[in-house]
Amino acid sequence: MEFVSDSNRKMEILTKPYIILNAAMTADGKIDTITRRGAKISSEADWSRVDELRAAVDAVMVGGKTLLNEDPRLTVKSPELRRKRLEAGKSENPLKVGIVTDARISAKARFLNDGPAEVVIFTTSQASSETLHLLKETGVRVVLAGDELVDLPQAMHQLKTFGVDRLLLEGGGTLNASMFAEELIDEVQVYLAPVIFAGADAPTLADGAGFGVREAVPLALENIKILPNGGVLLTYLAKYKGE
Ligand SMILES: NC(=O)c1ccc[n+]([C@@H]2O[C@H](COP(=O)([O-])OP(=O)(O)OC[C@H]3O[C@@H](n4cnc5c(N)ncnc54)[C@H](OP(=O)(O)O)[C@@H]3O)[C@@H](O)[C@H]2O)c1
Repeated sequence: MEFVSDSNRKMEILTKPYIILNAAMTADGKIDTITRRGAKISSEADWSRVDELRAAVDAVMVGGKTLLNEDPRLTVKSPELRRKRLEAGKSENPLKVGIVTDARISAKARFLNDGPAEVVIFTTSQASSETLHLLKETGVRVVLAGDELVDLPQAMHQLKTFGVDRLLLEGGGTLNASMFAEELIDEVQVYLAPVIFAGADAPTLADGAGFGVREAVPLALENIKILPNGGVLLTYLAKYKGE
């Protein structure tokens, strides 16, 4: 797929992967409680779906807060699915991608060590040379992309050049909002859990500064699946206004 980045100024056409946002969300739109410790929202059945989704993509990506605070493994859990990937000539696990302003990640982090999996960190000039050196020593591919925040269109383009055709975005709410703002997300899969977390400061599917009505991202409903525990899986396609 191609898209136009910053159409008023650069008219630069960049390629990017097909990007699926997956999240587990409460019925009141929260993706965690106010304590932000990665509350369990998914059901067992939904975990299997997410595992299959991970097994079907080339890369899985998270934002800095999710990465640094929760240290997710982002690997495919099912041995069967990993075996099928290997049989298909793919790596056992998809590439792990982190979007981190200051990449202060411990060398012992599960994100870096659980696998086997290749790791790419997109970071900014705020990361110290010592941090960058340590990451490179652990075999991580580090890409400097921006000063204040990671330049997401450039990062997605770079991933495409690394051979990533399908990318799974697994949050959190700030990165999701930035990815919507840049019109980078193609598909949204949301597991809607039958529970309310409440809390004005609890993270939601897309946080950030928020869009006005004119900038709101329209979605087209593709599928609804009701799960045995009363949860609902919603699948949408993003229909950006310029498309
Ligand atoms: N239920 C679910 O499906 C699910 C999935 C994932 C996460 N979560 C929850 O989401 C919460 C974390 O979300 P969050 O919104 O606090 O953080 P986040 O989206 O995980 O990470 C955002 C951080 O990424 C870094 N970043 C670098 N460049 C960026 C860019 N261009 N755009 C956006 N971010 C950029 C920034 O900070 P740094 O300085 O930190 O790099 C930014 O603060 C946690 O409570 C977690 O449990 C839920």
